[in-house]
Amino acid sequence: MNDEARPPEEERRDAATGDTEPGTSPTGSGETEARPGKPDPGVRAEAIRILAEVERGAWSDRLLQSRSRRFEDPRERRFLNVLVLATLRWQGALDRVLAPFVHGGLARLRPEVRAALRLGVAQATVLGKQPAIAGDTTVSAMRALGGPRPAGLVNAVLRQVFSGDVPEPDPAATIPAWLHRRWVLRYGKERTERLVQAALRPARPFLVARPDRGGREAIADALAREGVETRPARRHPWGLVVQKGAPQLTEAFARGDFLLVDEGAALVASLAMPADGQAVADLAAAPGGKAAILAQGETAGIVALEIFPRRARNLAALLAERAPAGKAAAVVADATRPPLPAERFGTVLLDAPCSGTGTFRRRPEKRHRVRPEDIPDCAKRQARMLDAAAPLVAPGGALVYAVCSLEEEEGIGQARAFLERHPEFVPVDPAGVLGHAADGLVAEEDGIPYLATRPEDEDTDGFVAVRFARRAG
Ligand SMILES: C[S@@+](CC[C@H](N)C(=O)[O-])C[C@H]1O[C@@H](n2cnc3c(N)ncnc32)[C@H](O)[C@@H]1O
Repeated sequence: MNDEARPPEEERRDAATGDTEPGTSPTGSGETEARPGKPDPGVRAEAIRILAEVERGAWSDRLLQSRSRRFEDPRERRFLNVLVLATLRWQGALDRVLAPFVHGGLARLRPEVRAALRLGVAQATVLGKQPAIAGDTTVSAMRALGGPRPAGLVNAVLRQVFSGDVPEPDPAATIPAWLHRRWVLRYGKERTERLVQAALRPARPFLVARPDRGGREAIADALAREGVETRPARRHPWGLVVQKGAPQLTEAFARGDFLLVDEGAALVASLAMPADGQAVADLAAAPGGKAAILAQGETAGIVALEIFPRRARNLAALLAERAPAGKAAAVVADATRPPLPAERFGTVLLDAPCSGTGTFRRRPEKRHRVRPEDIPDCAKRQARMLDAAAPLVAPGGALVYAVCSLEEEEGIGQARAFLERHPEFVPVDPAGVLGHAADGLVAEEDGIPYLATRPEDEDTDGFVAVRFARRAG
């Protein structure tokens, strides 16, 4: 079964996981460097098709990766990425611009028509095209895709929208109103504005080099020979920040010389990096970025659990490629009932399924999928997983809990409640584990120090991670 044809149930459950697949992110596609020139109208038709499929539940990164291949010219591939990602990021605000002009409301339209209208307004506003050109190109794309009737409707609406001054889309409207209110309450107005702006930027490509392939300098040199410029990451010994080029299109990527992951995710893996010779359990491990980084360390072995069989298969393949034979195993299992022995693991990582509100840069459609009830639902599941994780940790060992969510109930609130239920654990200051790599990223609430990666300042996903030590006796 391919990714685009997943059963709706699995897709719905995936939507609450906040995961990012290593190597499948479109963010290294040169999105920020698009010089579209004169792209074929087919690119816009493909963009409309992808946007409509995303509305029906598909993920844009997977579609962009497969559909980009239809275009030979790299400028067209980049332009396709720009169109789709900008429209998805700005969707809430584009809908506000469109709403007064759509009789009966946008909701009654077919997804393709809605997608075309959004694309038209996105081109004329956030992408800086002249409205007449934005309108004409969108209408021809809609005609190519759906015939004259939907194209006529798109034409009529866009003409009206563009007949006066085109209103600027409001950045605040790109985040669902209920979530925006939550952020203002928790983070204040000024920081919320910066979080909103961060969610409108492309995710910065970051990679973690394999130390057994000559180290990051050798890999940086190999990438440079293929036109990809990088600089060493300040916070990660194997990390490279991509400054120019598309690392996922290189031979070095095909050889598996590095993983494409978010820098925040790499830091969480560092926080969970075990001491030499310890056994590690990663309880919610797919797609496997953190498990693969941990496998690069000096562990005795890693067992990686994942509840979905297809994801577990991909995870197994990744670990087989990364870890020496016999050192890592992927197991299909439910982390609320882990089939693992008690008190045997020096390190347990629970990178729990969550609402994913810290990942909007990387997964722009996530903001349209998250619902208010996801947050208490995820929090309940996380608490069950934490309770199941605790007995696995050996005395003196560590439990690292992480979520890519900005919501209190899933992050520090969860840690606080865990410590109340489990007095056998104490929180550990991440700075003591990570040293300077944690500079500026350690917060403390209720006496619990934790790692908080910050999309608004650091251009990473927003992770909250807490390291708990199990008392020795
Ligand atoms: C946030 S993602 C983990 C990301 C991963 N640690 C990485 O670095 O690539 C959470 C994962 O947990 C899986 N999951 C959800 N519920 C689970 C459960 N009850 N038991 C095990 N895995 C679960 C999801 O399918 C998803 O792959």
